[in-house]
Amino acid sequence: MARILLGVTGGIAAYKSLEFVRLATAREHAVRVIQTPASTRFVGRASFEALTGAPTLVGDHDADPLRGAFPGEQIDAHDPITHLALAAKADLFLIAPASANTIAKLAHGFADSLLTSSALAARCPVVLAPAMNNLMYEHPATQSNIARLESRGVQVITPAVGRLASRDEHGIGRLPEPQQLLEACEQRLSAARGLFDGLRVLVTAGGTREPIDDVRFIGNRSSGKMGLALAQAALARGAEVTLIEANVALASPAGLRVIHAPTAAEMQRACEEGLPRCEVLLMAAAVADFRPKARFDGKIKKQQLPGLTLDLEPTPDILARLAGARQPRQTIVGFAAEHGERALALAQQKLQTKELDAIVVNDISKPGIGFESDANEVTIITSSWQQAVAKASKRSVAERILDAVARLRSEGEASR
Ligand code: C5P
Repeated sequence: MARILLGVTGGIAAYKSLEFVRLATAREHAVRVIQTPASTRFVGRASFEALTGAPTLVGDHDADPLRGAFPGEQIDAHDPITHLALAAKADLFLIAPASANTIAKLAHGFADSLLTSSALAARCPVVLAPAMNNLMYEHPATQSNIARLESRGVQVITPAVGRLASRDEHGIGRLPEPQQLLEACEQRLSAARGLFDGLRVLVTAGGTREPIDDVRFIGNRSSGKMGLALAQAALARGAEVTLIEANVALASPAGLRVIHAPTAAEMQRACEEGLPRCEVLLMAAAVADFRPKARFDGKIKKQQLPGLTLDLEPTPDILARLAGARQPRQTIVGFAAEHGERALALAQQKLQTKELDAIVVNDISKPGIGFESDANEVTIITSSWQQAVAKASKRSVAERILDAVARLRSEGEASR
């Protein structure tokens, strides 16, 4: 059971939030509702009050008869400042439906209503379910507001595609079904509940460079953004994070231990040293599969070029070795950049041959995701389940990967 604070904004989909409350309370969650004034034109506060068993708050200065308590809790003796009390007590803040207007305000830190003030004061996970006309949803302004919120760790549930409110309108923008909203909230809650608190997480990021001579190298296009997003997300969940980075040009987040490992050999050494002290390995780095057998001293001169050949040798598969020698209760996640239709099947094979707990695969034939981009679209595969993560910011994808790690670890606990 959790305390869910539900924010309802002005949109036709507000009627679905009633059903959400019905489902959530049936699962014994305690729900309080804050509505924006505009949303009361669609659904009245009395409907939410009947279903939650608690007053619905709307106005900035509404006194809360429950003084910030959730249903079933004792009412405080002193009268608190309403928005701080509700947001401080909530385990999760779901805003559904979230209108384009409220999303814009949240992205820019406005506090012009009880709902937006509460969102600013909230330190619990915030989940946002946008619902609006498809043109408004797809507008670059809305998309950049969503990306901004995601980069701060807000979970945004992608709207569904289908018939929209107005006649003959069809497209992306529908509020997902209440049952799906509840599942997203429950997953987020279980991930947030202490699982990462103090957990030691090793993340690798970037791409290795294998020297040809003192100037040139064989490298790859990995920017390290996905690894950094994972490190940031794990840090925000209270984990103790070590980041092993290979040639990452971006600043790493404060609060984590950073080890530089520019080549596959150095990456191997750092991972072998770091993993025994960690419970989770997220191997997001693109490690070279082959390297020059020998490194030329100095710089190869043009005159040496005719007839010059590079002898390559395979690098050891660091991940497979680490996974093969893993200790009990370690969770090992690999990444696979695959091309085209067979991406999932190939990743599935890697999951087995490398003996991983999960593999995160992205199809690099799709435009606008993966290497160097700020967005990604992946499928997380384990031996017993598979989860597709729709295109979203790398931070948001990182959150879903951590949710999957949390699920794997709790399933592991349950089967012991
Ligand atoms: O087999 P493939 O290179 O596609 O596997 C990708 C996964 O294996 C990534 O998680 C990558 O970090 C890891 N890897 C490794 N050592 C290598 C090559 C890849 O650990 N030499």
